[in-house]
Amino acid sequence: MLILGLDTSCDDTSAAVLEDGRIVLSNIIQSQVKLHQPHGGVVPELASREHIRNIMHVAQEALKTAQVKTEEIAAVAVTIGPGLIGSLLVGLYYAKGLAYGLGIPLVAVNHLEGHILSVFLEEDHPPFPFIILTVAGGHTSIYYVKDFGHYEQMGQTLDDAAGEAFDKVAKILGLGYPGGPVIERAAKKGDRERIKFPRAYLAKDSLDFSFSGLKTAVALYVKEWEKGGKDVTLEDISASFQEAVVDVLADKLILAARKKGVRHVCMAGGVASNSRLRERLLEVTGANGLKAYWPRPAYCTDNGAMIALAGYHRFMRGEVADLSIDVKSRFPIGQNA
Ligand code: KG4
Ligand code: ZN
Repeated sequence: MLILGLDTSCDDTSAAVLEDGRIVLSNIIQSQVKLHQPHGGVVPELASREHIRNIMHVAQEALKTAQVKTEEIAAVAVTIGPGLIGSLLVGLYYAKGLAYGLGIPLVAVNHLEGHILSVFLEEDHPPFPFIILTVAGGHTSIYYVKDFGHYEQMGQTLDDAAGEAFDKVAKILGLGYPGGPVIERAAKKGDRERIKFPRAYLAKDSLDFSFSGLKTAVALYVKEWEKGGKDVTLEDISASFQEAVVDVLADKLILAARKKGVRHVCMAGGVASNSRLRERLLEVTGANGLKAYWPRPAYCTDNGAMIALAGYHRFMRGEVADLSIDVKSRFPIGQNA
């Protein structure tokens, strides 16, 4: 059974063809990074217009690469939220047109469910139940996953997402956009113990996050640092900031696993491709007798394959959307489409 998965929730136009809920026949991602780079972040109006320009050929490329004809697609799965309204609308209306024109079902997918299930795109995936940290530019949450369709949110960020903190700190340091990869690169040459930036653990045993205080601490530090006289490099600041984020993410993941008595711990989303975070997760899971999982980078950032996979499981449960369905900028994981 072939599912076409589409995601236009933020600044990537993506389409994928998935066979039998697990074999990725194609996964095409058209990034808009260059378009938004001069603005230092995603400009929603520009993003939706770019999706309009790209969606058709990205979807056609996905079918061509998979060597699949449109008529062979069993259903079209599309992200309806959370995300940028204008961006989401482009994907949803393209999907509606396809579903209507081909006479096939439309399946509405929660973007966060896509990230959670992205671990199943890899051969070495966790068994149920597992804990997963979804960590990106728009979200940072921990879920307990009992089965397909059964997700319990255990914690989330109260302010900035971790990826957003990377992006804002990169801007403060003049390193460009997106912040994650440039900070990671700079951090490799820095001393992560050099500056002790604050770690916000919040209430005892809390699985919520807060990164805005850390961002402010870095901004204040940089202001002082720019006056000169400190024997500290930009690379040291990058490494020390990254370490503060990694400490909190890793500690809370282990705490979540302990709370649920779960042995399998995963992460997904753009920040999950950070090599220091991966290294740390391997360390702490190993030390605690747990096993760590994460998908390859192309499945960590926004992609159509994870939406096709989530859509496949919804389709199998008979969860087909009405063609009058709308997008949702906010879309908690437990809410029905
Ligand atoms: O999953 P994604 O492509 O889009 C969202 O759903 O947000 O994630 C993008 C975010 C950006 O904030 C970016 O700075 C961050 O993920 N990111 C990273 C790395 N690569 C991307 N953060 C830390 N280290 C990285 N290597
Ligand atoms: Zn995402």
